Amino acid sequence: MTTSPRKIAFIGAGNMTQSIVGGMVKSGYPSDLIYVSNPSPAKLEKMRDTLHVHTSQDNAEVANAADVIVLSVKPQLMADVCAALTEQVANLSEKLIVTIAAGIRIEKYRQYLGNSIRMIRVMPNTPSLVGKGMSGLVADDRVNDDDKAYITEAFDGVGATLWVANEDELDILGAVAGSGPAYFFEFMASLQKAATALGFDREKARLMVQQTALGAAEMAIASELELEDLRKQVTSKGGSTAKGVEVYQGADIDDISARAVKAAVKRNQEMAELF
Ligand SMILES: NC(=O)c1ccc[n+]([C@@H]2O[C@H](COP(=O)([O-])OP(=O)(O)OC[C@H]3O[C@@H](n4cnc5c(N)ncnc54)[C@H](OP(=O)(O)O)[C@@H]3O)[C@@H](O)[C@H]2O)c1
Repeated sequence: MTTSPRKIAFIGAGNMTQSIVGGMVKSGYPSDLIYVSNPSPAKLEKMRDTLHVHTSQDNAEVANAADVIVLSVKPQLMADVCAALTEQVANLSEKLIVTIAAGIRIEKYRQYLGNSIRMIRVMPNTPSLVGKGMSGLVADDRVNDDDKAYITEAFDGVGATLWVANEDELDILGAVAGSGPAYFFEFMASLQKAATALGFDREKARLMVQQTALGAAEMAIASELELEDLRKQVTSKGGSTAKGVEVYQGADIDDISARAVKAAVKRNQEMAELF
């Protein structure tokens, strides 16, 4: 760690918390500064045994012990969880509040937790579960640079991080990176179907597709070329790839992506109204 470790409490010990805490510990974050709460004990026991963090079934106990509180319960439970914290936790306004719940806006947390909180919203995506996440982050104007650097480092443990300017941008990031794994799976499944339709069994077709997706992503990460130019680089004029690419371009793949992202942004905006 390059930033100073702080006492950090995770409310909810689900998949995301387990991955984030696992990433933090792997990156050298001291386990004895990490607190986790959850209603049922099994996940807590697992985290205590494997990651050696403090655990409790009492949210207020871990929140009171920490300087940073990460809200990691399902959005529909957030109002109740926050109401209990407001009643039972001293000096909430002195703690940094972080939420990873989708959809709920900072303004709403101010209603739940009081107007004086300082807060960061993080939108991780599912590949965080395998350490290859893409997390978007946005802070309110009370959050300082130390807070931002500290949280960046925590989420870097499960992948890449990208700060955005405001919550509207977070909705867009969510529509690209949050929903993106599903778009890629959809595309990968369609390539798999194309290969099976021509005689391959599903397992072999899947191997071809997933390894190719991984290779393409690794090449994109390693290269400074524009993605368009990378595509051109692997497309010889008059060759078989050019013929395949022509089919995608003929179906206006840019328009399909633009419409998909806009539809997901719209849904993110609608969901923000639900809470
Ligand atoms: N998974 C993703 O890819 C992803 C991506 C972006 C954002 N998120 C957000 O991250 C948050 C957590 O997601 P997840 O995938 O980790 O969900 P999850 O696996 O269902 O974990 C949620 C945890 O919250 C616990 N919980 C339930 N009621 C609670 C309470 N009153 N107090 C404290 N903990 C309570 C649950 O415990 P029990 O199981 O014992 O009931 C469960 O362990 C959600 O808000 C989700 O929107 C997730």
